[in-house]
Amino acid sequence: MTATPDTEVNNNSSLCFLNGDYLALNEAKVSVLDRGFIFADGIYEVIPAFFGKPFRLEQHLKRLSKNLQAIKMENPYSMIEWHKIFSDLIAKNNFAKTDCSLYLQVTRGVAKRDHIFPDNPSQTVFVMLNPMPSPDLTKLEKGLRVITREDIRWQYCHIKSISLLGNIMLKQEASENNADETVLIRNGNITEGSSSNIFIVKNNTIITPEKNNYLLPGITRDLIVEIAKLKNLPLEERAFNEDELFNADEVWLSSSLKEVSPVCYVDNKPIANGKPGEHWRNMFNLFQEYKASLENNPNA
Ligand code: PDD
Repeated sequence: MTATPDTEVNNNSSLCFLNGDYLALNEAKVSVLDRGFIFADGIYEVIPAFFGKPFRLEQHLKRLSKNLQAIKMENPYSMIEWHKIFSDLIAKNNFAKTDCSLYLQVTRGVAKRDHIFPDNPSQTVFVMLNPMPSPDLTKLEKGLRVITREDIRWQYCHIKSISLLGNIMLKQEASENNADETVLIRNGNITEGSSSNIFIVKNNTIITPEKNNYLLPGITRDLIVEIAKLKNLPLEERAFNEDELFNADEVWLSSSLKEVSPVCYVDNKPIANGKPGEHWRNMFNLFQEYKASLENNPNA
């Protein structure tokens, strides 16, 4: 088998951060013995940065800290040190005025292959940056299509583990069925998407599953809940089932990369009239207002 050159995988000489150094993405190398490679033993985060500022940084870094603790790994950096790495990467890549997303991962580092944790793990810390286009309203107005599947993943879905085999297999099914996302069902209830959280609207009430070990506590989800509460929009955090999904007035997905997107078809069946609803449009606008308010806030 011929190895695929890195330049073909990502024809990108953008600078990334690897274990204290800033270097071109196609020159960054990690050992084959890294536990991230061998065991998917690590945690990741995806943080959007608008006009050069990481968005909801404190919340993303708190989740990272909690997740590292959950898998018994130390946080290699303080909040201030992480912030410095992100700011440096944004500046070095000239993204101070453009939107991008930051991807970071921390693994238990290089060690002899053994299921048991190494005594003194070295840790591998990697951060890269990707351009992030603003939401395309024309595309959003057409709405997303999703399929539903039984959740085949493990029971610790609240941990943002780099082991995403279940998620990618489920997402691939969406792609093979001309859909944008796979919505997951566990014990009869809807939990989340393969890479997003889910909301429905019924009789003017926004409903999203309560946080538990079957879903990732999304930073975007939490912000939508926060905005809804601030604006006195009726909202419930509770379990809902497949019937409620199909009979909803609106369905939305949320994530750091998708923000808040309307779903118009589930398993090829239209949601209400098969068009994005007024509650989504309202939340979309409130979300954009919130982003804009941070742009003008020098302390944000
Ligand atoms: N995924 N649920 C899952 C399974 C996810 O992978 C994601 C995000 C979310 C939304 O979380 P947040 O709002 O914090 O982005 C929910 C990221 C974007 C990814 O893996 O690329």
